[in-house]
Amino acid sequence: MKMISRRDFMKASAVVGAAGVLTACGGSSSSTAASSTAASSVAASSAAASTGSANVGVCIYQFADNFMTLYRTDLEEYLKDMGYAVTIVDGKNDQNTQTEQINTFLQQGVDVLIINPVQTTSAQTIVDTISPSGTPIVFINREPDKAVLDSYAGKCCYVGADARQSGTYQGELILETSTQGDINGDGKITYIMCKGDPENIDAQYRTEYSIKALTDAGKEVECLYEYLDNWDQTTAQQDVANALAQYGDKIEVVFCNNDAMALGALQSIEQAGRKVGEDIYLVGVDALKEAVQNVVDGKMTGTVLNDDVGQATAAADATKLFVDGKDVEEYYWVDYVKVTTENASQYL
Ligand code: GAL
Repeated sequence: MKMISRRDFMKASAVVGAAGVLTACGGSSSSTAASSTAASSVAASSAAASTGSANVGVCIYQFADNFMTLYRTDLEEYLKDMGYAVTIVDGKNDQNTQTEQINTFLQQGVDVLIINPVQTTSAQTIVDTISPSGTPIVFINREPDKAVLDSYAGKCCYVGADARQSGTYQGELILETSTQGDINGDGKITYIMCKGDPENIDAQYRTEYSIKALTDAGKEVECLYEYLDNWDQTTAQQDVANALAQYGDKIEVVFCNNDAMALGALQSIEQAGRKVGEDIYLVGVDALKEAVQNVVDGKMTGTVLNDDVGQATAAADATKLFVDGKDVEEYYWVDYVKVTTENASQYL
């Protein structure tokens, strides 16, 4: 019998489910390629308001990011289901490239821009570039300062997940192990941390709150090293290999700000002959399929679902509110979910 996976189930039900949260949205047919071109005139924009169709420009910070690939695929599907023409562009992790793409979208007269900024610190400049045209903005995934959203009130919002929650869940995953993270019984949890992009609030909060969960539970902790791995699997693999060579059995926990880095860490852990669950613990965030499979197989202690379906649905629904000229809130938050050996098979 074919099981429906949690993500597929969430995808199938997301459009319907989110309707209650952010008012209406469309059907459930699927689409794949990012092909449509944005229209080019103000006339087209006002026609959009009356017909309900619209041209939406989507700027993703980098296509070569596992989680953002899931997210943008969902987003494209939901926006097209709503009847919108969608163009998605790759910022290639370069703010100048993304800024040029934004300018092109503005020249084309898109109705709404969905922006996953390359640099969150550039969010104000992005708003200042866009605001003279009056084009609404849905920021996603990388949270700008509230002052940035306030500066374009009513015309821009942020859709995201509270990274503090994901960090706390990572700490809890370690506290839920049989040794509560203290494998060698020396009274403290000794760890290394693989961090994402240092400018990114998700990386900052996950780093802080995973450890806060331990210290809040009265645990003593020792950080051996924090590695700057920029969300990247290969970088984390190399750094964790070096860390294992340098610190050996002292390392009890490998915290990774995301699953891509946890997958890299696991390769090095296995190469070093260490065994997750026996002599080391490993946690990530995102619930990428491969990572969830590792949780099922006992090769990762746990991960945290970063709900791409929920966030893409909320972003599409906020876009629709802008297109329809309805009121839009400043923030839309989507919960994280802890993924353990007990529930992991639901998320495959
Ligand atoms: C995080 C996600 C990372 C990476 C990052 C990009 O929320 O966990 O894997 O995609 O966003 O900003």
